[in-house]
Amino acid sequence: MKLPFNTPNLTSVSHHVTQAERAHYMGAQGAVLWFTGLSASGKSSLAMALEAHLLRSGYACYTLDGDNVRKGLNANLGFSEEDRTENIRRVSEVAALFADAGMICITAFISPYREGRARARAAASNTSFHEIYIAADLATCEKRDPKGLYRKARAREILDFTGIDAPYEPPLNPDLVIDTANQTFEQSLSQLVEYVVEHIPVRTAR
Ligand code: ADX
Repeated sequence: MKLPFNTPNLTSVSHHVTQAERAHYMGAQGAVLWFTGLSASGKSSLAMALEAHLLRSGYACYTLDGDNVRKGLNANLGFSEEDRTENIRRVSEVAALFADAGMICITAFISPYREGRARARAAASNTSFHEIYIAADLATCEKRDPKGLYRKARAREILDFTGIDAPYEPPLNPDLVIDTANQTFEQSLSQLVEYVVEHIPVRTAR
């Protein structure tokens, strides 16, 4: 997808509130928790459970989920490499804005390409970015098949399906790996909560 050109007629506008002051009012430093993994690896279920837990613990938090965002902001995009790249580019920018606003933004997208995830990290460079690999092998995901999409992909009723006839590039150096194939949902959720508490401290001082 062709991107619009930055015109020389744009001028950045500064906020009057510093990041530290914003963190004070919002309860914690803004951050992006970028989940990546195959369809049915557990990204959405874990993201929504983590969001609820963090919100109830005093963190301002919101989840951007692939299936949801593709019904609105990204409703004009499909699953070609080009469209997935644009999907992830837009989500990267939105997640970075959420984080800049002082929230924890959890994103649950397959985000199959390493380059796209690297760009997501770069977009959030003002705050902190955590690449979290929701790891489940293809056989496990295909066995779960909660939406029946793997079955359709095998029957060629859906084309370009990640893991079947479209690629997935696992992270080479993720900040955290959640092994959902070999541990319970509760264990995975606890691991995520512990990670957040350790890496994104609640701030009270201005
Ligand atoms: S991404 O590759 O661009 O990051 P995204 O996470 O937004 O994908 O969307 C994936 C979701 O779209 C899946 O959970 C699944 O429900 C649905 N889906 C429909 N068609 C496909 C496809 N060809 N490949 C992967 N997911 C698909």
